[in-house]
Amino acid sequence: MGINDISNFDTEEIDRLLQDAMDGALSTELSSGSDISLDTMLTQTKMMVGTIVGYKELMMMYACAMKEMRTKFEVLNTEFKIRYQRNPIASISTRLKRTASILEKLGRHNLPFSLNSITEHVNDVAGIRVICSYIDDIYTIADALLRQDDVTLINRKDYIANPKPNGYRSLHLIVSIPVFFADQKKDVRVEVQIRTIAMDFWASLEHQLKYKQEIPNQQEIIDRLKECADVINDTDEKMLGLRRQIEAATDAPSEEEILFEKLSRLDINLE
Ligand code: GTP
Ligand code: MG
Repeated sequence: MGINDISNFDTEEIDRLLQDAMDGALSTELSSGSDISLDTMLTQTKMMVGTIVGYKELMMMYACAMKEMRTKFEVLNTEFKIRYQRNPIASISTRLKRTASILEKLGRHNLPFSLNSITEHVNDVAGIRVICSYIDDIYTIADALLRQDDVTLINRKDYIANPKPNGYRSLHLIVSIPVFFADQKKDVRVEVQIRTIAMDFWASLEHQLKYKQEIPNQQEIIDRLKECADVINDTDEKMLGLRRQIEAATDAPSEEEILFEKLSRLDINLE
């Protein structure tokens, strides 16, 4: 396979090329260095470029899968807006895992550095975070996503029902969705994290702890973060209770009000 036909994403072939390129590089290193022929250099360069192009194409596929997922959530949010006049989703963010983090993860799990290895073992190359206002919205949105017949659930971790010992809460899904390219369809995995605004606030501060080596009073900070996680969970539950109370207490609207409300729906921004 040459460089020009690498676009068929034959990851096995790319892996073989990667291995060959590494073997080639190694034998070149071991030989005296200066006596390598131009032909050998050219072949090795082609192999390396082939692998790099294959990697870039793989990342392109993950980036496209993220776009598809974002659209799926945006569609659900728009539908909710029209049906119930409120947005269950406060914000959505996406991120493509950095090359260094992909390599670090493969190394940490003793996995080979290859494209196949990435697609098979690194489930969070494409990541999407969906922030909701209320806890019940998290499950409503997750269920609506998983009911879609092109979405396949690979793994589900409910850290809301079962918080981590440090207090971390979030609903995590690994899903696979088909992405359609010019001449082929690829099933691509995406990590979805769904949490409330309050859970996100907590997680972003707690995340900073991971980048600190030695900080004074570390245990005290950990303990206080856990306290905050509990307060935040209590607040999330109270806010949900209050919303439900307010919804239930709303008087039955008059015929005139219903008509007016229906008319106002016509002007809801659908973008
Ligand atoms: P990796 O952490 O990516 O190796 O995956 P895992 O198999 O441990 O999966 P898990 O679903 O537990 O975590 C995936 C992601 O959720 C992490 O990469 C973080 O973004 C987030 N996460 C999990 N646990 C915590 C936590 O304790 N604190 C914070 N701030 N984020 C967390
Ligand atoms: Mg991760």
